[in-house]
Amino acid sequence: GKVGVLLGGRSAERDVSLMSGTGVLQALQSQGIDAHAFDTGLRSLAELADEKFDRVFIALHGRFGEDGSLQGALELLGIPYTGSGVMPSSVAMDKITTKILWLAAGLPTPNYAVLDAQSDLAQVAAGLGLPLIVKPPHEGSTIGITKVNAAGEFKAAYDIAAALDDSVLAEEFVTGREFTVAILGTGATARALPIVEIVAPQGNYDYQNKYFTDDVKYHCPAVLPDALSEEMRRIAVQAYRTLGCQGWGRVDVLLRERDQKPFLLEANTSPGMTTHSLVPMAARAEGMSYEELCVEILRTASL
Ligand code: DAL
Ligand code: MG
Repeated sequence: GKVGVLLGGRSAERDVSLMSGTGVLQALQSQGIDAHAFDTGLRSLAELADEKFDRVFIALHGRFGEDGSLQGALELLGIPYTGSGVMPSSVAMDKITTKILWLAAGLPTPNYAVLDAQSDLAQVAAGLGLPLIVKPPHEGSTIGITKVNAAGEFKAAYDIAAALDDSVLAEEFVTGREFTVAILGTGATARALPIVEIVAPQGNYDYQNKYFTDDVKYHCPAVLPDALSEEMRRIAVQAYRTLGCQGWGRVDVLLRERDQKPFLLEANTSPGMTTHSLVPMAARAEGMSYEELCVEILRTASL
């Protein structure tokens, strides 16, 4: 049947999605699938309905694509779609709600505070310690994230995040190594792919380094003691299942240097599929090509 690759969209990650979606489109077409690009940032839901897609591959990132709103529209239109449903998509898009659910499930995530314009930043800095990380809770690709090294930098970091979001998340900075765990499947059958370690210059895995430089080194499978690697994969899958994620996704994990304890950062329900992206890298380490990965994800499209 006719497949739509939804790409672009209206979030701050529009450009990333155009890269992801173009890759997915070409991969599906190369496998003989009748796939067509559909830019949800340029075209309406009425036009999407008119396309009469049998199913769609969501290659959108961020708001209006990854956050449950589009998923809800597709449910109403009756078009099967890849990835998580409405609830896990909107929960995972919110880094604060994500942490609350993980903590309730006994899963480790860095200490945090939720900030608004009335917050006493000095008190928050004293509580969490420095450095700390300030994030807009509903963005991706590191957009709006600042590391605060000194109390005097906190207000500016808050303002950057507050300009992008209604609330602001301040998180304890975990010193250690950075990893990500790609996951395929749903519920009891969800499984982790080989872990990727990300080694960024000065630990700065920012937007530029994520997509446009070759300065970041990746190790996949990550070099870790077997028990630790198993533990990291286990808690990542548990984290994914706790949020109710479906089809595919990626859970970002930090490994604290001082005690080798893993901490969960966030879940991505529509992860990057660019040439620099991590889920394709993890799949490749398991012998699964980019094309096979795209077909596998498409196969799980459902309502
Ligand atoms: N938010 C970006 C696309 C990712 O998680 O890969
Ligand atoms: Mg993210």
